[in-house]
Order: sequence, then structure tokens, then C-alpha cells
Amino acid sequence: MKPEQSFVRDWKSEELLPLLDKVKAGRSFESAKAAFKQTGCGQCHRFAGEGGSVGPDLAGVGRRLSLRDLMESIVLPSKVIAEGFATTEIETKSGEVVTGRVAREDDRVAVVLPQTATAQAVTIRKADIRRRELSKVSNMPTGILNTLQEAQILDLVAYLISDGNSNHTAFATGAATIPVAK
Ligand code: HEC
Repeated sequence: MKPEQSFVRDWKSEELLPLLDKVKAGRSFESAKAAFKQTGCGQCHRFAGEGGSVGPDLAGVGRRLSLRDLMESIVLPSKVIAEGFATTEIETKSGEVVTGRVAREDDRVAVVLPQTATAQAVTIRKADIRRRELSKVSNMPTGILNTLQEAQILDLVAYLISDGNSNHTAFATGAATIPVAK
């Protein structure tokens, strides 16, 4: 494990939710970008023009979700599962088990995207399915913030609401305020 990825704290939503007012101003854009990279959000999420597709595109997430729901969706991923991103477990009649997100389906087949970002889509014939269940557990790992300090978590949330824009008010510093004319 790299030193910057060492364990900091098992963050709980009760500890983080009362801090949300601090997200709105005085945050660090550089720290936010680094935290996003370090925790690997981009492996699963598209954001600021790049990233994976295991989870929803995070563009505009700060407009879709309240600040509170945004924080909860990171610290408690299974509390609310984003529409269309629940994990399905399918067991075929031959005993094979495929777990992933159903990307498409029709009367004949279901196309499942396995949980790992690199795996290929699997097409399963509906006639071959023995059991099919929707999981209540998110495919987003819990404890993803546990290698971050409090300030880095707040920076990261500001980064999400800013849509990756370093000019967002959350990142404005005292030095950038308009000088008072003499
Ligand atoms: C292993 C893949 C993976 C990683 C890594 C990951 N996520 Fe997720 N994330 C998901 C999946 C899948 C969902 C959809 C299911 C759910 O809502 O929990 C999701 C949902 C979300 C949502 C809710 C989006 C919505 O539209 O409701 C947010 C916000 C989010 N993730 C932020 C993050 C952030 C920030 C990080 C990095 C700290 C991160 N995720 C890391 C897979 C991942």
C-alpha cells in the first residue's frame, strides 16, 4: 500500500453529514482532484470528461442530488441504489452464476455487464435462466473514504458539485476576491 493510501478513519455518515456546510467555500481544487484519483472513483464513474461506466456518469450529480444525499451515496452506497445500476444475480440452468448490471434485455436475452470494469458483457438466453435476483447491495465499495482526511473528503464533495470546474465558488480563495478600491 502506498503511504498516501493508508487508513485514516472508518468514516460514518453521522460524522460527515454535520460538516456539509464546509463544502460550500474555501475548498482546494488540487486536493479534490488528488482525492478523486487516489480513491479510484474514475475507475467506475465518468466525470469531467473521463472515466468508467460501472457506476452512473457523475456529470451534474450536484444538481441531481441534494448535498446530503450526495454525501450519503458515497459513504453509504447501498442506502439508495441509483436507478438502473442495481446488481442482478442470474443463475443459469447449467449452474453458472453471473453477477452484474443488466444493460439490455428483450423477450429472448439479457445482456449482463459483469462487476469488474474490464470484463466482457455476457449474453444469457432467458430460456436458460433458473433464478434471477436483484441485489440490495451496491456495487460501489463501502469504506471508500477511509483513506482520506476530513478536509480531503470535503474537497472531494466540492469537486463533485463543481462538475470539475476550478472556478466554482467552493474553490474561491480569499486572495481571489475583488480588491477594494482606495
Ligand atoms: C467499483 C466501482 C465504484 C467505485 C470505485 C466508485 N463507485 Fe460510486 N457508484 C458505483 C455504482 C455501481 C453506483 C450505482 C449504485 C449505487 O447507487 O450505489 C455508484 C453510485 C455513486 C453515486 C450516486 C450517483 C447517483 O446518480 O445517484 C455517487 C455520487 C458516487 N457513486 C460517487 C463516487 C465517488 C465520489 C467515488 C470515489 C470516492 C466512487 N463513487 C467510487 C460504483 C463505484
